[in-house]
Amino acid sequence: MATLNIRDEGRALTDPREIQAFLSPFGIWYRRFEGGDDLPADADNAAILAAYDAPIQTLMREGGYVTADVINITPDLPNLDVMLAKFDKEHWHDEDEVRFIVGGSGLFHIHPKDGPVFSVEVVAGDMINVPSGTLHWFHLCQERAIRAIRLFQSQAGWTPRYTDSGADAGFTPMCFGPNYLPPSIG
Ligand code: LAC
Ligand code: NI
Repeated sequence: MATLNIRDEGRALTDPREIQAFLSPFGIWYRRFEGGDDLPADADNAAILAAYDAPIQTLMREGGYVTADVINITPDLPNLDVMLAKFDKEHWHDEDEVRFIVGGSGLFHIHPKDGPVFSVEVVAGDMINVPSGTLHWFHLCQERAIRAIRLFQSQAGWTPRYTDSGADAGFTPMCFGPNYLPPSIG
């Protein structure tokens, strides 16, 4: 279940319906997909695409996406930090960024034109669509692992366009996760 955090307002949302309502003015949709938990941890990418074929086909029809792949980030990946350094700078894409999380967790930071940056923590079963043109950046959570199905509207695939605004500075990963313990107050 996702957690939405508006850092500068000291506010967090955990109710899926509240999260959806908050995201909808930005054209971002967030959905839960239940029932994919029985995939073995060592399932390969083809098995993942096959297991989620029905929701993938639905999303493709609805959103005009033409290709799907699986990104599998693990802590032991060579060049992991190089890869993360591409994600964690403010950027946009000329197509929607659709991610269907099947394992691990991560944080999408969204920078709306008006209003404070907010982050959406995604875990297995979460689907999120960051519309084309939306300024955003991405962090892994502490476990430094995420596995997600990506859907693309063009064969060209993933092209980040960087703003170089520096807006991403100072936003450290703040994941709540299933094992999160809130700091005690007092
Ligand atoms: C992406 C995310 C990480 O562009 O923003 O794939
Ligand atoms: Ni992106």
